[in-house]
Amino acid sequence: MERHQPGQAASNWQGDSIVFGCDYNPEQWPAEVWSDDVALMVEAGIGMVAINIFGWATVEPRDGEYDFSRLDTIVELLHENGIRINLGTGTSSAPPWLSTKHPEILPVMADGTTRWPGGRQAWCPSSPVFREYAVRLVGKVAERYGAHPAVALWHVSNELGCHNALCYCDVSAASFRRWLQSRYGTIERLNDAWGTSFWSQRYGTWGEILPPRATLAAGNPAHVHDFERFSSAELLDYYGQELAVIRTASTIPVTTNFMVTAHIRTQDYWRWAPEMDLIANDHYLDHRLEHPERELSFSADLTRGLANGYPWMLMETAISAVSWQPRNIAKTPGELTRTVASHIARGADAICFFQWRASRQGAEKFHSALLPHAGTDSKIWREAVELGALLERLAPVAGSRVEARAAVMFSWESWWALGADSHPSQDVDHLREAHRAYAALRANGVTTDIVPPGADLADYSLVVVPALYSLSGTEAIAINDYVAAGGNVIVTFFSGLADEELRMRMDVTRAKPPGAFAEMLGAWTEEFFPLNANESVVLDDGSRGSIWSEVVRVTTATVLARFADGQLAGHPAIVSNAFGTGRAVYIATALDDEAFRSLMAREVMAAGIAGVSSFGSDVEVVVRSKGPDRFLFVINHSADDVSIAGTGNELTTGESVARTLAVPAGAVRVLHEQPR
Ligand code: GAL
Repeated sequence: MERHQPGQAASNWQGDSIVFGCDYNPEQWPAEVWSDDVALMVEAGIGMVAINIFGWATVEPRDGEYDFSRLDTIVELLHENGIRINLGTGTSSAPPWLSTKHPEILPVMADGTTRWPGGRQAWCPSSPVFREYAVRLVGKVAERYGAHPAVALWHVSNELGCHNALCYCDVSAASFRRWLQSRYGTIERLNDAWGTSFWSQRYGTWGEILPPRATLAAGNPAHVHDFERFSSAELLDYYGQELAVIRTASTIPVTTNFMVTAHIRTQDYWRWAPEMDLIANDHYLDHRLEHPERELSFSADLTRGLANGYPWMLMETAISAVSWQPRNIAKTPGELTRTVASHIARGADAICFFQWRASRQGAEKFHSALLPHAGTDSKIWREAVELGALLERLAPVAGSRVEARAAVMFSWESWWALGADSHPSQDVDHLREAHRAYAALRANGVTTDIVPPGADLADYSLVVVPALYSLSGTEAIAINDYVAAGGNVIVTFFSGLADEELRMRMDVTRAKPPGAFAEMLGAWTEEFFPLNANESVVLDDGSRGSIWSEVVRVTTATVLARFADGQLAGHPAIVSNAFGTGRAVYIATALDDEAFRSLMAREVMAAGIAGVSSFGSDVEVVVRSKGPDRFLFVINHSADDVSIAGTGNELTTGESVARTLAVPAGAVRVLHEQPR
């Protein structure tokens, strides 16, 4: 596969504008409405439309029989109206004729049950049969439209792994074995890595290895972990197969839509990102979380991390409610603008919606769309048109970059590993602890990058390592070296305990304390004391912690706070250690929001970082810049008006600001500051 820095290969995909786009599924509608649709798209300012995402059954209605007549018409209609196309390869969901003819392509669950057609994405990622039919279709689509002047972008499949990431069938088993062979070389090395002496699991030949199918007792964690790695790599390999076919007929940038969210964890996007021409993400507000807008910020900053700091594309979001949560909450007044602005502030140069016209039938008919069932005489349509105008006014922002001096480390592998059975507490979750640390920085007005283990940390003044359970030796050394060379790090509980095979990091001679960070932290953990659900513990500085406590043994560190109640009363809870020319802080419990915010306020100041604002969690302040131009985004989620110093042209209202930018409650302002 081609490898490059995302964003570089396709540097001007946004065409000097903030793209306003949507998914369009005209196959769901009679041809009579298509020209009406496109006229309304022009009225709203839609610049890019994703088509053919679920087009397979329409363009190949029978095995080997292609009918591109409808797609041709749509492509020309969009082209004539100056709308660029994000062209789906159409392979996301196989038509019924394929699964009827080849039921062996259907995915199999860990318990051996099959997942049947009738929904979407019912295919096994390893199936050579599925792949053969899919790439045959991709070849036809690429040949037909690969050089079409309206096609701006290729959209491979759709949300790869959304439903079918893990398949446990025999075909997947064979592919898993090949993957393991190339990872370990010999069966002895695999046995060693997986610790198969435990519970009599030693393998004699590769053929004895299965995917981690449903077991009676807890499965081997290293086995499960490698299957998660394999499954992410398998879909990425599939992406590569589609990409190679596209490249035979087209030079247009290629990508697929990631799902950087709190509820889907199956793909290691740190590994995917270098294979994309540009990074695209799908994000929907998750009302099952306590603070959906904070998760949005984290997801957007993580997407920017995947894009290596380059502008990225929000390929899907909803104009109002979705239809797949238990309660699908409509957006409140101003919320659409605030959420869109938050994505743009954090690096998005394209805002696209699922979908253009609300479906009349099918599983998503209650999902909001730019053109609702109610038609154009509706709040949603008026908001869509207003948003189009706003994005036009934000065009100067396109291509600018976000700068951050703080970073939070996040690892899909650690997230998977911590999600396994048989841990001290099911409440310890890497993503949740990353969110908690991120929220503490955000509440201090500090813009934060999200980086992978192993990242070059030299440019950051402060790095947080939150519940990073597993990491490789090289990754651990990178963190230690960063601090030794003068960096500041905050490590939270359950970090650095295991290596990349999930072996506990310990010295069997007992000469050194366990964990990857004992020397750097000047402290180590003797015993875990997880807290019960709804239990909390008080610290002697007045903070409160939940989820976790532990016996911390101090070697060279200074104790900043101790547990003040519970069975660990008097034991250290927060410690700080000078290491090399840097400093490391360790937190042995999940601090509540307020306590973490105030600890972070001290630490960012000690690290020499000035937050761009002191408004707290409900007002986001982020700066994007491009050469001498600075764009100050203020997103006011609060019920109070705020103001901030600044001079320049305010892009949302067109007003010029002499000294103070006023941002009314619920509003968004983007100040374009230029040197005089
Ligand atoms: C995404 C998907 C879209 C649509 C949307 C609804 O998962 O790519 O096709 O289903 O969610 O929110």
